[in-house]
Amino acid sequence: MRRSQYYVHNPPWGVCHVHNTPRSGHMLTHSRIYLTGFMGSGKSTLGPVLAEALGYAFVDLDDYIEERAGCTIREIFERQSEQKFREMEAEALVASFEWTDKVIALGGGALATEDAMERALQKGLVVYLYASEKTLITRLKPGAMNRPLFTGKDQVKALLTAREPVYRRAHIVFSTEDNDSIQASKRLIAAVESSIQSHRHEP
Ligand code: S3P
Repeated sequence: MRRSQYYVHNPPWGVCHVHNTPRSGHMLTHSRIYLTGFMGSGKSTLGPVLAEALGYAFVDLDDYIEERAGCTIREIFERQSEQKFREMEAEALVASFEWTDKVIALGGGALATEDAMERALQKGLVVYLYASEKTLITRLKPGAMNRPLFTGKDQVKALLTAREPVYRRAHIVFSTEDNDSIQASKRLIAAVESSIQSHRHEP
């Protein structure tokens, strides 16, 4: 199967690389666009803008889980366990495979395993929003209270080291290193639209 890649070098955005065609064995569908990446990578900021540009609805999978659970993610972690949250998250991900015309922002742990990533790659276009460890730590500090998993720099480093190789399997790796979200959203829309276009023209 043909597999093309192109690289957009456009400082200060760093490298945005796109696997334009499905990886072997993947039936790439664009009716579901998954935004993955670490806490603070910009999923909830860029997701609604991307959804609007595509005429899709935006869903934050953490909000969906909270709605179904009737309590916040912090409460699930505290009253039940992280393990329970991970089960709910895995169920929510499977439920999302039935949704169409949606941009779906995933919690940072939703595609942290090879298995979950593999399934998402088969069910939609997966976009990894990359930001460096330093940038993520800076972004996370102000909102740390809402993030039960953010306990400090060392923990970000450990989680990122474990997750990054899996995140990088995404169809599109998009840098949000710069903090200008307006420019970021324009570039993200262009990258996703380009992927949609090239998929349409696949033989
Ligand atoms: C988590 C990220 C959070 C949320 C939960 C666990 C993680 O979502 O799902 O606190 O494991 O990285 P965001 O990435 O949207 O902050």
